Amino acid sequence: MRALITGITGFAGSHLAEYLLSRGDIEVYGTVRWRSRTENIESIRDRMTLVECDLMDATAVSQAIERVRPDLVFHLAAQSFVPTSWLAPAETLMNNILGQINLFEAIRRARIDPLVQIACSSEEYGLVFEDEVPINEENPLRPQSPYAVSKIAQDFLGYQYFRSYGLRVVRTRTFNHTGPRRGEVFVTSSFAKQIAEIECRLAEPVLKVGNLEARRDFTDVRDVARAYWLALERGEPGEVYVVASGRDYRVSRVAEMLLGMAKVPIRIEQDPARMRPSDVPVLLGDSTRFRRKTGWEPAIPFEKTLADLLEYWRGRVAWQAGRTAGGTGVDADADAGAAAGGSGGYRR
Ligand code: GDD
Repeated sequence: MRALITGITGFAGSHLAEYLLSRGDIEVYGTVRWRSRTENIESIRDRMTLVECDLMDATAVSQAIERVRPDLVFHLAAQSFVPTSWLAPAETLMNNILGQINLFEAIRRARIDPLVQIACSSEEYGLVFEDEVPINEENPLRPQSPYAVSKIAQDFLGYQYFRSYGLRVVRTRTFNHTGPRRGEVFVTSSFAKQIAEIECRLAEPVLKVGNLEARRDFTDVRDVARAYWLALERGEPGEVYVVASGRDYRVSRVAEMLLGMAKVPIRIEQDPARMRPSDVPVLLGDSTRFRRKTGWEPAIPFEKTLADLLEYWRGRVAWQAGRTAGGTGVDADADAGAAAGGSGGYRR
């Protein structure tokens, strides 16, 4: 069986590639752009096939689909950092919506009938009132960012292509996920990386934070990778599924948990540049539909996810410090959102 992953060099994509390879019976293909950074997949690169293809280029997408003729498609490539979508709304919408249309049209043109998972998002729900949690597939969508609008468009296009052409799309509305390789601009990685730098005496002992009041439902990325596989193995084409742990944490609690693992005392300071024009106050998911259909359960506790993430950043920061000392320092983050969003402060 052949699986094609768009966004294979990114955070979730690299974990999904590892998961599919571990199953032993799947040939893994992934799309990359000429400028994609590949360190997330370096350890598995020789066990899969990379196909050069920019999803903005309809011809290139068609050629890639013709070449691979996948049985399974996991569509993860996207501009994924919410604040970047305020800085570059048109680019976010173009990238996320057009990329998916090019993919869908290429599949139709090739006259193949793969199962297609598309990575939708809990951000689509946007404004959620206290009496509307936990959130399931029927909750209203009240987007609060251009990114959320782009994900709603992807979501509804998935539904429309299923209804219009029978394209076997399974939509996953995944809530926040984190773990090793998370791009440095996202909240858990931003905090973990700052702590690792402070421990290395590369920064003052101050953790810069944004909105500490928001509540998010975090799942380990390795559990999410398994969920994406199950979505295609057991999910219903045309259907949409919430993928979430069912437990939420205030961002202030996430900061406390990470600071509790730090080797040195660190104080917290709010950085106005990290506040958003509008933030989604609470995202807590109810994934009953997905669990019943697929048997999925998240297995990795959040404490372990954060501990693994902090270890990941300790390793990277030490490595980068060593490279810089040797005169060859490079910024090596491969996450699409991180690449677009800079280093953590994002109001310019
Ligand atoms: N990034 C960041 N950095 N967020 C901070 C910080 C900070 O220093 N301080 C507080 N926050 C708050 C944000 O305001 C937000 O409420 C929350 O932490 C989570 O922010 P992110 O980690 O940037 O994630 P997100 O919730 O905006 O979006 C993520 O989850 C979506 C699923 O709900 C992304 O992974 C999206 O791509 C994904 O679709």
